[in-house]
Amino acid sequence: MQIANKTVLMRVDFNVPVQDGIVQDDARIKIPLDTVKSLQKLGNKIVLMSHLGKTCMPCEAQSLKQVIPNVEEIYQTPVLFIDDCLSDKAPEIIKEAPKDCLILLENLRFHPEEEKCDLEFAKKLASLGDVYVNEAFSASHRAHASLVGVPRFLPSAFGLSFKKEVQVIEDFFSKDIPSKMCLVGGTKLGTKVKLLRRLVRKVDKLALGGGIAGAFLADLNTAALKPFIPIGYEKEVEIIKQCAKDYNCELILPTDFSALIFSGSAFEPAIISSDAQQANIFDIGVESVKLFSEHIRKSNAFLWNGPVGLFERSPFDYGTRTLATVVAEQTTAGKLISILGGGDTCYAMSMFNLQDRFTHLSTAGGAFLQYIEGTDLPGITAIQEFQSDIIIHKF
Ligand code: 3PG
Repeated sequence: MQIANKTVLMRVDFNVPVQDGIVQDDARIKIPLDTVKSLQKLGNKIVLMSHLGKTCMPCEAQSLKQVIPNVEEIYQTPVLFIDDCLSDKAPEIIKEAPKDCLILLENLRFHPEEEKCDLEFAKKLASLGDVYVNEAFSASHRAHASLVGVPRFLPSAFGLSFKKEVQVIEDFFSKDIPSKMCLVGGTKLGTKVKLLRRLVRKVDKLALGGGIAGAFLADLNTAALKPFIPIGYEKEVEIIKQCAKDYNCELILPTDFSALIFSGSAFEPAIISSDAQQANIFDIGVESVKLFSEHIRKSNAFLWNGPVGLFERSPFDYGTRTLATVVAEQTTAGKLISILGGGDTCYAMSMFNLQDRFTHLSTAGGAFLQYIEGTDLPGITAIQEFQSDIIIHKF
């Protein structure tokens, strides 16, 4: 059933970085564009709801008012702002609003009931629309009222971008594509154990960078790698290594690093081999970048989560930037399906101005990680549980 001439309550994720009232990155604000425009063409009125930052007392610094100029520019539509999502005036304002404007509710997290998943709160939100659409994949790992409560009270559907994001990841894992490669970076092994355990079973090659690679190089007994070897994960690392062997997944580890070494009077950047003893490591080295690049060039599908080094700081951006460029080139040449995601990964790609050069770049952090590691997202389960037959077509 198509959604036409209804009031659509849409959960979006406008949790964007804001400094001095100015949005620093509007990528998440663009995500619901197709869904909004397609629904508006069928005479629907759109009410957008989101959080910004963590739960707090109402304040200017976390007000969604700050995103209005960006929304108006991207959607080419005036925004009607309701300064409290539970305002008594909200139903009347929504009723009187013209269909071609966008209605935006103030930050949901100004009400602690949102994070507590209070069902009375969810019910009140639901009363503001006829239909619920979730276009906030990046927030759907949270079991909050606007994500799992509202679908109990309204016919619900996923937005177009949400569906695309899930489909692209599902295709990566389920399609029979020869030569699948993953690259996992980042600093904390603890947050990636479940992911690595899944990936070694699903892909042909798994490259590791960033701090987590250190844990897999512990056998080298290199003093410089010690800070990266988390205590208590030795067994996990062995299980992952064994699984990689059992499932024929090639583990690709860095062979050198980019570091700061003390030259007597100051710390200086240097490339060190993986058996160097004294250095502060901040990136994978030139040889490792070559090695990883060769493997990427031989792959047909590639999934990347987590930068391989301290990409915010030159020269330690070299690894992440060079690999990102190789992935972008291969994708543009039609030789690679590339899926990238995670908060830092997404930020790094924007910094390198490569954000539009991949098959899919997810703006999601925790939700992306949770989805690719195979954990159900509450925001997805909630809609599937209360299945309705409504669909959204792209116009
Ligand atoms: C995110 O930025 O990952 C989502 O918007 C969720 O935000 P949260 O981590 O504050 O729940």
